[in-house]
Amino acid sequence: MNLQSRRDIHLFCRRLLRWYDGHKRDLPWRKDCNVYRVWLSEIMLQQTRVAAVLEHYRTFVEQFPTLQKLAAARESSVLAAWSGLGYYRRARMLHRAAREIVSKRAGQFPDTAAKLCELPGIGRYTAAAIASVCFGKRVAVVDGNVERVLGRMMGRNLSRTEVWQLAEEFLGPSRPGDFNQAMMELGATVCLPRQPRCPFCPVSAFCATRGELPRNRSNAPQVKKEINYLFARRNGSVLLKRRSQDSSLMPGMWELPELAITYNSDVWLTIRHSITTTNYVVRVIKGNAPSENQGSWIRLHRIAELPLTGLARKILRLAKVI
Ligand code: ADE
Repeated sequence: MNLQSRRDIHLFCRRLLRWYDGHKRDLPWRKDCNVYRVWLSEIMLQQTRVAAVLEHYRTFVEQFPTLQKLAAARESSVLAAWSGLGYYRRARMLHRAAREIVSKRAGQFPDTAAKLCELPGIGRYTAAAIASVCFGKRVAVVDGNVERVLGRMMGRNLSRTEVWQLAEEFLGPSRPGDFNQAMMELGATVCLPRQPRCPFCPVSAFCATRGELPRNRSNAPQVKKEINYLFARRNGSVLLKRRSQDSSLMPGMWELPELAITYNSDVWLTIRHSITTTNYVVRVIKGNAPSENQGSWIRLHRIAELPLTGLARKILRLAKVI
């Protein structure tokens, strides 16, 4: 059976929604359609897997349970709560949008995708997710999962424009929020990038591929880099350095001071760390603070409150400092 007629599409939607009702993951932001929490989850889920988001989501909501609390917070506290999730621009935009909604919109989120798109950090995908899930608006969501599901259904790699068009066509008049989430859920749990679980797919009867499509796009090239950090400890403090506010990457966040060179015998710890397409080999050297100004001594109990880079957090955890 191929997806050719309106009837096929209708059947596809019904089967997908029935599957979603019985198999959807029990995720905290799905308990109700609280727009603040759905928005927060969608921002966290950009470029980040559900498993990595769950713990951060829980502690973030504990610290900032409402839009008003988030808007009233200092940026450094928001960044500290975001620490470990990466892509910190998302946290800054989230905070900025919270302030805008509170100050200019009396704390009310806009209820259409077009108006949501005017807020900082909200693009077409996030706006559609919020508008459909929280306000029942009939707008399709396309993320990497949806793109893969639709491509496989149709049996070929689709252009971006084709994917958005198809996603709109597939979206039925009822339950648009659930339909969008079901498509993403199918991609995340069944129609996996590698070794899709076709025998468990509720819509495999409509699928033109039933397996992996040959790729026609090469993955972005991976870059290798090496970096050395100093781990210096003194009287219950650790030497940390704040990144410049002008830095294009993680401005204003805290990390260990960088060292230009090292000798293998000095290395205390070697770890691997990836940021987007760069794979770092990270060497940590234990030592005394160098004479030139390399940072600030931060008391141990204050460290967890700082907006640390993900890598600094990883190292400080391994060093059992936090
Ligand atoms: N990925 C991003 N948002 C999602 C959602 N609401 N459901 C499933 N996967 C998602």
